[in-house]
Amino acid sequence: MTLSPSPTISARTAGVRGSAIRDLLTLTARPDVISLAGGLPAADLLPRERIAAAAARALTDPAAVQYGETAGLARLREVVAAHETERGTGGARGPVLPGDVVVTSGSQQALDLLARAVLDPGDAVVVEDPGYVGALQVFQAAGAVVVPVGLDADGMRVDELADLLAGGLRPRLVHTVSSFHNPRGVTLAAERRRALAELADRHGFLVVEDDPYGLLAFDGATPAPVAAHGERVVRLGSASKVLAPALRVGWLVGPGEVTAAVELLRQGADLCGSTLTQSIAADLLGDRDWFAGHLATLRREGAARAAAFTTAVAELLPDAVGSDPTGGMFCWLEFPEGTDTTAALPRALDAGVGFVPGSAFAVGTPLPAAARCCFASHPPEVLHEAVRRLATALAVPSGRGRST
Ligand SMILES: Cc1ncc(COP(=O)(O)O)c(C=O)c1O
Repeated sequence: MTLSPSPTISARTAGVRGSAIRDLLTLTARPDVISLAGGLPAADLLPRERIAAAAARALTDPAAVQYGETAGLARLREVVAAHETERGTGGARGPVLPGDVVVTSGSQQALDLLARAVLDPGDAVVVEDPGYVGALQVFQAAGAVVVPVGLDADGMRVDELADLLAGGLRPRLVHTVSSFHNPRGVTLAAERRRALAELADRHGFLVVEDDPYGLLAFDGATPAPVAAHGERVVRLGSASKVLAPALRVGWLVGPGEVTAAVELLRQGADLCGSTLTQSIAADLLGDRDWFAGHLATLRREGAARAAAFTTAVAELLPDAVGSDPTGGMFCWLEFPEGTDTTAALPRALDAGVGFVPGSAFAVGTPLPAAARCCFASHPPEVLHEAVRRLATALAVPSGRGRST
């Protein structure tokens, strides 16, 4: 979906590219389609009983259904601050404090409020290419000039960014999905994290470390956050992938000037978040033993699903080159040159499988032969069937496609 400029709609809004993924969710919701398209956490692993128990507990207090503070429920800010401290977010600066945290309606709202707080129309924002569509939309809506930087197996090409800066580029923000990238699945290497934070200090931009997947490392190990290495980093976290998206609980941790501006804009956006779902999130994230056990299950199942998916790809799609996921939710597939995954999508849906074509994430470099597949949403046997259907839709006709 994209809107046409009109006397009613602002030019800025008309410039926003619709999310192909959000549009696709309607098609892939058909019961006959196995969807690898959305980044949907596994339905069978959502902790519904634990959420119900926390809701019942919260509802014994009328405050649970009252308006709350704009910056978030005090108990949740405490829990998030402790949790971020444990992950190393404070670095040498010391622990993250509840006052450093603003709770938002998912980390998507944090991105939106941050962009509005920091950007003036025409400001340059560096994004990864391919990039997270939700961030691209927010930066377009803010009127920013989006500048792509490539990715490789170690995440953002920080050397490319350094070259652009040396050439005179002065971005206000640099956005990175530092762990288990959406859509590429890669993780920013430790030395690049340090280098990125140093560049931010030297050139005066803010890094947006967008990290909803960092806790989903299959082996439990992710490098220390970019935020551990410098003060000019705003970290975004989310309960969506580790608890449940419907809680709509995310958070932003950053310098006082930024959190104050975000809180101010949130007053105008929605006054405050849901006190009820924040109480539930505080209960679950604050129950350390339960949360550790739940994360262990998500990691174990994620690893099993990723393995089932990549094994099926190797067996049934031998022409495709797939990434080797070590965490998160996504596998990135590259088909032989000449494949057009956008054109193949209707065939795939007819065959009963959905994915997101690479072009949906492209910023500067077109990615016609790539696809993002979410392996997390389905159990191994369903993933095998999904890949079988993909193979039907994307079969390379003989004589075409293989690059020489
Ligand atoms: C990189 C990234 N950031 C932010 C979000 C937004 O998540 P939420 O608003 O549910 O926290 C997503 C969702 O998929 C994402 O992939």
